[in-house]
Amino acid sequence: MATIATISSSPSDPSRTDAVLEYVTKRLISHGHTVPPIVLRDLSAEPLLRGRADDPEIALAVKVLEAADAVVVTTPVYKAAYSGLLKVFLDLLPQYALRGKTVLPLATGGTPAHVLVIDYALRPVLTSLGAGAIGQGWFVLSSHIRLYDGGGLLLDPAASVPLYQVTEAFLATVEGSRPAESVPVQLAGIEAVRARPEDPEAAPLLADLVVEYSTRYGRTNENTQLTEVPPSDFHPERGGAFVLLRYGGRTVAGGAIRRYDDQTAEVKRMWTSHLHRRQGLGRRVLTELEAAAIDLGYRKLCLTTGPRQPEAAGLYLAVGFEPQFDTSADPESIGPLRFTKDLSVALKVAS
Ligand SMILES: Cc1cc2nc3c(=O)[nH]c(=O)nc-3n(C[C@H](O)[C@H](O)[C@H](O)COP(=O)(O)O)c2cc1C
Repeated sequence: MATIATISSSPSDPSRTDAVLEYVTKRLISHGHTVPPIVLRDLSAEPLLRGRADDPEIALAVKVLEAADAVVVTTPVYKAAYSGLLKVFLDLLPQYALRGKTVLPLATGGTPAHVLVIDYALRPVLTSLGAGAIGQGWFVLSSHIRLYDGGGLLLDPAASVPLYQVTEAFLATVEGSRPAESVPVQLAGIEAVRARPEDPEAAPLLADLVVEYSTRYGRTNENTQLTEVPPSDFHPERGGAFVLLRYGGRTVAGGAIRRYDDQTAEVKRMWTSHLHRRQGLGRRVLTELEAAAIDLGYRKLCLTTGPRQPEAAGLYLAVGFEPQFDTSADPESIGPLRFTKDLSVALKVAS
């Protein structure tokens, strides 16, 4: 496993750039890497501005950087370039401080006019510091970043999907593995398998859901850690099912049901890989789960989804689930959103 240092260089707190970095950090940690943070606004201003690299705080930050195998450098765009805070820190570093290190540059900015800041401003400096491989990087528009009071981040899919892709590519370079590709899936090549949550093929689904939920809701609890339900609830002998869609040797989507009551199964763990969204995989998972529910003798499905999962709520409405709440209200004011679906129509068609 690698050590991946992160550099946060916004003077703001709370910071949109930091929120994006926190999300990426969770993904790196979920791959088993150690991720020490360097938060530049927390360093004392006086030694930073006077270029005193021997100051203990600054020396420690430099040491963290030196010890890292890879670095995520983040910055808000200020005046068409990276932040001044980042510049004063980079100016303190030894000439080849990034020698041999893989670097992922990320920026946030208010206007698409400055989308190339990473390439024209940041990349040359990283190169001059000797960076080994500099990843593609990504610029996230601040209008695509929704921060909630009390914590939590919702990224627009226009940002979350490419951010996921560049993070995957960065991780593949760090780990020396082949990056998963974001190619359209051929529906005929998808295999639906009934699995168990303990199977290694289920691991990407569970790991990604933990990252997504803890990021969106800004907290760590049994719901965001997926410990609110014992995995055995998804075993067929307990009236559950765990379905995975596999494509090209990888798990690309999945979901589960568990017994709610004699007549009803509850849908849980719905997930589609960021590399394969908007291709109908969520619908396919629900079709497989409905079939599994009917096999197990259920006549109804129910589920709750969180208020910060607009894409999930949209999917359930699109496939005939009935909302048990006021759809015109702000989801944040409702909390968990409950849906139900009667399977008797599907049962009649089947018989
Ligand atoms: C002083 C200042 C200068 C800025 N200049 C630019 C700019 O030139 N181009 C741009 O796209 N956004 C600019 N912005 C907007 C920020 O880049 C954007 O809001 C960013 O997401 C802020 O990140 P933060 O919350 O981490 O500080 C500027 C913001 C500030 C405060």
